[in-house]
Amino acid sequence: MSDRNMRFKDKVAIITGAGRGMGAAFARLFAAEGAAVTVSDVDTAAAQRISDEIAGSGARSIAVNCDVGKREQVQAMVQQTLEAFGTVSILVNNAGILYRTPVESISEEEWNLVMSVKVNGVVLCSPAVIAPMKEQGWGRIVNLSSSAGKTVSTLGGVHYTASKHAVLGITRGFARELAPYGITANAICPGLIATEMVLDNTPADELRAWEESFPIQRLGSPEEAAWLGGFLASDEAAYITGAAFDLTGGDLMVCEPIAGGGVWVAEAVRLRTRKYWE
Ligand SMILES: NC(=O)c1ccc[n+]([C@@H]2O[C@H](COP(=O)([O-])OP(=O)(O)OC[C@H]3O[C@@H](n4cnc5c(N)ncnc54)[C@H](O)[C@@H]3O)[C@@H](O)[C@H]2O)c1
Repeated sequence: MSDRNMRFKDKVAIITGAGRGMGAAFARLFAAEGAAVTVSDVDTAAAQRISDEIAGSGARSIAVNCDVGKREQVQAMVQQTLEAFGTVSILVNNAGILYRTPVESISEEEWNLVMSVKVNGVVLCSPAVIAPMKEQGWGRIVNLSSSAGKTVSTLGGVHYTASKHAVLGITRGFARELAPYGITANAICPGLIATEMVLDNTPADELRAWEESFPIQRLGSPEEAAWLGGFLASDEAAYITGAAFDLTGGDLMVCEPIAGGGVWVAEAVRLRTRKYWE
């Protein structure tokens, strides 16, 4: 049985977009439970702040500037991690951006930027860590998708929704290919979590209306996302791969496929507003 308080002793974790929000919460959790942590972000100062805080608590941590959409930067970030800590055992693909642009106004540049960070970023970072994971015969990849990946984004535009659907497909592809090497890949699908991404982009009255529409009438916390990620990265989750876990306070409930009239029908139920259902 593993020591539940030090589940990641001797592990090395890379967290992308870890300068704030859920990424910072993942970094703190892995460090608190024994991992050496690379705090990676395109915002160098933010990454350094979180890394200093973690190092101040006695854990091993480095801050690395990295735009996850740029292959050379990703390779350099993994290389710096290998030089500092000798291996990589956990990768959390967390970096993200949010645009609320209506579909008719999304420029090609904005579409490509969203895909670069949220889709290419996952595709570039993951292969870069597979070699050290294969050497250990153990690895954990945790990808941040969204409830948008299963239905449609609450706040984001079409590009946000498309990118989060892509993350689920990529997760399942990784899961299938990497299972023989002891490497699992799973996705977390948050609804609305109280981070700058949400708080900076949503008027207070809109936020309140969203909260009131959820069965659990509040936003999730970054720590609640990290607790789920910690489980998926632990030994206890060794038999879970290719899965996508909802973290929505009950906003999204997806039913099992049901047989009807000779065809299989997938029924998705979204509890959007209480009024609608009452
Ligand atoms: N907050 C939510 O409600 C919510 C819901 C569903 C999914 N998500 C997803 O969870 C992840 C984390 O979201 P959050 O709310 O903590 O966001 P956040 O905006 O608070 O933090 C995102 C971090 O990613 C970094 N980043 C942006 N572009 C980057 C790039 N090119 N390379 C590296 N880092 C980059 C930012 O600097 C920032 O530190 C994202 O992928 C987001 O899409 C968030």
